[in-house]
Amino acid sequence: MNTLIKETGHRNERTLVIVKPDGVQRGLTGEVIKRFERVGLKIVGLKLIVPTKEMVGKHYTTDPEWIRKTGEKNIKSFVDKGVQPPINDPVTAGQSILNTLVAYMTSGPVIAMILQGANAVKIVRKLTGGTEPILSDVGTIRGDFVIDSYEMADAQGRAVRNVIHASGNIDEAQSEISQWFNSNEIVEYNAIHEQILYRDFSDLLGK
Ligand code: CDP
Ligand code: MG
Repeated sequence: MNTLIKETGHRNERTLVIVKPDGVQRGLTGEVIKRFERVGLKIVGLKLIVPTKEMVGKHYTTDPEWIRKTGEKNIKSFVDKGVQPPINDPVTAGQSILNTLVAYMTSGPVIAMILQGANAVKIVRKLTGGTEPILSDVGTIRGDFVIDSYEMADAQGRAVRNVIHASGNIDEAQSEISQWFNSNEIVEYNAIHEQILYRDFSDLLGK
């Protein structure tokens, strides 16, 4: 088991988190960072910026299937609740979500950060919670700090406010990190807690 960690370098897995404009305005940045720090992840990049339309458009279309998949997810969420979806075509629904997302994400400063550690992508998604706050689990960031729903957001023609973005998988994390950070903005260092988290006890074997 420990050999696996040594060989695959799991402790070097990285993911991108963005505290969205609502999270920054509500003073939740510290709360978000606290939750990721206390689980054992290490911050290796951090910045405050007001994203441009181009940055947000690029961010959400790294996966060419994102528009269709997001549209499908949206339609399904209405069907699951027994409500008629406002738009029935997945691509049209996805494109409309992207337009509202651009407005949301460019509305003010965001904090972008790179978190590093074993299983960083999955651990961060777990602590983030599901996309739609009304269904996000209690104890997750979106479950604990947001009261929004797709229905409310759609009625107002806006994106769902859910405090943070977190990369969905390792490939997404890699491309998002290179979009938001230059390599000279990423800092390599040893954090003291890694000696505890990743210790393999091989020095005590056979003694
Ligand atoms: O952020 P996450 O990966 O959980 O969800 P996504 O499906 O990749 O969607 C990205 C973002 O679009 C969400 O976090 C929401 O802010 C927004 N969105 C929305 O406003 N309405 C939807 N039906 C789906 C997503
Ligand atoms: Mg996503």
